Amino acid sequence: MADKMKTIVLGVTGSIAAYKAAELASRFTGEGFRVDVIMTESAQQFIAPLTFRNITGRPVVTTMWDIDSEFSVEHVALAEAADVVLIAPATANIIAKMACGMADDMLSCTVLATKAPVVIAPAMNDNMWSNPFTRENVAKLTKRGFTFVGPARGRLASGKMGLGRLTGLDDIYGITLQALGRKGDLAGKHIVVTAGGTQEPVDPVRCLTNHSSGKMGYAVAEAARNRGAEVTLISAPTALAAPPGLKIIGVKTAEDMLKAVQEAVKKADALVMAAAVADFRPVKASSQKIKRQDLNELTIELEKTPDILAQVKGSFIRVGFAAESHDVVANAKEKVKRKGLDLIVANDITEMDCGFGADTNRVTIIDSKGKVENLPLLPKGEVADKILDKLITLLR
Ligand code: C5P
Repeated sequence: MADKMKTIVLGVTGSIAAYKAAELASRFTGEGFRVDVIMTESAQQFIAPLTFRNITGRPVVTTMWDIDSEFSVEHVALAEAADVVLIAPATANIIAKMACGMADDMLSCTVLATKAPVVIAPAMNDNMWSNPFTRENVAKLTKRGFTFVGPARGRLASGKMGLGRLTGLDDIYGITLQALGRKGDLAGKHIVVTAGGTQEPVDPVRCLTNHSSGKMGYAVAEAARNRGAEVTLISAPTALAAPPGLKIIGVKTAEDMLKAVQEAVKKADALVMAAAVADFRPVKASSQKIKRQDLNELTIELEKTPDILAQVKGSFIRVGFAAESHDVVANAKEKVKRKGLDLIVANDITEMDCGFGADTNRVTIIDSKGKVENLPLLPKGEVADKILDKLITLLR
């Protein structure tokens, strides 16, 4: 989990999407961040400062000239306190001001004075977004290290469809956490994570797969991103949304996953194999749909899939997962040795609140020397951070 008590300065500007900033403020506050909101004058036409005050439990800055405000006395106080500045929604106007280095209100002043990363989530009319002035301003800010997230295509305030909508809040949230973790303990490291259950075709409509939801692998990938790592997520099909800020490679079969992993580990510091890779696949997939009326019974001949972890070797740390239904620790210890792993994360999939599909997991982490650490039941995001804590000691 990202380091709590970090300060997010949330700049809200005058767009119809300003109400969505309340949801962002709520989510960050709920996660334990200190959220200080700065509203431009026009933002206050769309949403009341009181909304943010109640959500964040913090004073909201609405002007530079409030002599009673703790922030206006020292007009760069928030610039210095910020671990990240997020502007959502960001109008063409604030983007232009930032690109020119202007500082004529509290938000532009804070951006000019801060050394923290700045994330910009634009929302505006599509013609404003495509206007050469805006294009130049965005290019200028990008070159200077500002991060843009969005905009998205969709229905705009004008009623027409176009590119200019505030992008999804999940993406803004993820990119902000990534910016916060830029100097984290995994900065400069490349981590490859696999996730999901592979699908081995039987015919064009059927496949052999398993109950993996991909949640544990996605949690590891996002936690690594939030700690500064460059992350490649190799994902078998899942129902999960693609987390922002990751390089995502979609695969279906164990064979596809093997090829993707072999390529990705060439530049990796660690491989975390959280995917539930099929152990067997049909020897031959039928090219046409197998018809029920043509057969009384059907036997499918299976062969072993390649063992990715056992095959992919190199000077990177290798972490495996062991989903067991009995003798969890004994089986996992045997697997660490057999596959020559640095770490294995084992769990009992027969427990209700663990394993497939659950949002929580109770795992045991075992290292190559056989040292066993039992973790309590935790949200998968926290399990991911515990795994990364161990991984970091090995990377050192
Ligand atoms: O041997 P078992 O399948 O239980 O090992 C589980 C671990 O090995 C997981 O980390 C899984 O991602 C990986 N694995 C693999 N290739 C396979 C099967 C499993 O890399 N064909």
